[in-house]
Amino acid sequence: MKVLVIGGGGREHALAWKLAQSPKVQMVFVAPGNGGTASDKRLHNLPITDMGELCAWASHEKIGLTVVGPEVPLAAGVVDSFRAAGLRIFGPTQAAAQLESSKAFSKAFMQRHAIPTAAFATFNQPADAHAYVDAQGAPIVVKADGLAAGKGVVVAETLAQAHAAIDFMLGGNSPAPLAGEGQSRVVIEEFLEGEEASFIVICDGKHVVPLATSQDHKRLRDGDQGPNTGGMGAYSPAPVVTPAVHARAMREVILPTIRGMEQDGIPFSGFLYAGLMIDAQGGVKTLEFNCRMGDPETQPIMMRLKSDLLDVLYAASEAGGLNPELNLQWDRRTALGVVMAAHGYPEKVRTGDAIHGLPPEEEGAVVFHAGTTLQDGVLRSSGGRVLCVTALADSVKAAQQRAYRVASGIGFEGAHMRHDIGHRAIKA
Ligand code: AMP
Ligand code: GLY
Repeated sequence: MKVLVIGGGGREHALAWKLAQSPKVQMVFVAPGNGGTASDKRLHNLPITDMGELCAWASHEKIGLTVVGPEVPLAAGVVDSFRAAGLRIFGPTQAAAQLESSKAFSKAFMQRHAIPTAAFATFNQPADAHAYVDAQGAPIVVKADGLAAGKGVVVAETLAQAHAAIDFMLGGNSPAPLAGEGQSRVVIEEFLEGEEASFIVICDGKHVVPLATSQDHKRLRDGDQGPNTGGMGAYSPAPVVTPAVHARAMREVILPTIRGMEQDGIPFSGFLYAGLMIDAQGGVKTLEFNCRMGDPETQPIMMRLKSDLLDVLYAASEAGGLNPELNLQWDRRTALGVVMAAHGYPEKVRTGDAIHGLPPEEEGAVVFHAGTTLQDGVLRSSGGRVLCVTALADSVKAAQQRAYRVASGIGFEGAHMRHDIGHRAIKA
């Protein structure tokens, strides 16, 4: 079978890398891919970014399964158009992708179906939003409605920060509001304390099979300091998700979400990613939904997956096709991925730096590419997150040591990485 992966980040490199291991897969195309997918003989980059063009190409090439990496094409309806063309594709429809693409939609959905989440209110009038935060007090969280590539959430420690965030997002005093003036909305919600984890499942609209648990590191610098990023590293499994927390997450968040979407007439198929906040008592609240795999969570998760990814995604791309009794097989070791980011990330990213010292792939250590391109045989940085160095070992500590050992041999001008990925799972 010929398979297509849409996207060009680290998540897509890891998905394509894993799909290519299936004996049923003849070729994996990645559109547009990156320097890593270009260098792998089992993968083939396709320089098409227009979804209409890609759909016509997939029909012509008789692609047997398409897997969508990022949220933007999902929110734009790529699944709807591929299905309309009679193509098999794994991912949520445009309507179902609103769980991620609209915070107002997902909060109202959670409220309607009694799915635990932070208390909240939604506003489109700046004056009402300002009055609400004054009444609630700080800390408080202000979120822009709509996709904002990780820049739409302000965890305000003071009222002044909350007011500034409202002005920025609703355009009160801001010269450049984030969303279009007059149509922007903010969700203001209660600040939750606890430890975060990424809980990702595969859904076919009816049935659910959970993936291994993981934890991301959103802040730029060691000790969870500095600005929020797309994610500076991740590991799997996440010990904070104990068996009891896992059972609660399935019972209180995942299953009611799948049932609720079905009841509302917009069944969810695809990867469903619940960002969870886990409190000291093991209580679980949903911070957000994503309608796709996490990046960089995918990289360690794919390193641990032993089952055939093609089989499960192929089955799940049909309503009711997924066997809910299916137990995916996982490497019992820990996988840990360290992101090497470009100079200036996340604010002002410099690209074009030559990358040196990439090791050949070895058992249990893979360098997944994200923002890289291959130009005249030279690998160069082309985005904010450049590489994710991912390694397997018997403990979090050992996986951390192994990943950093590999990363230490790789270099490019201005490279930045955190040095403490996995710290929450490593006892002092
Ligand atoms: P989101 O895009 O909604 O996941 O938010 C990005 C990050 O902001 C999350 O990963 C959390 O670290 C933080 N965050 C979001 N909502 C809350 C909340 N209600 N309480 C505390 N932190 C939050
Ligand atoms: N790693 C966080 C995300 O993919 O949204």
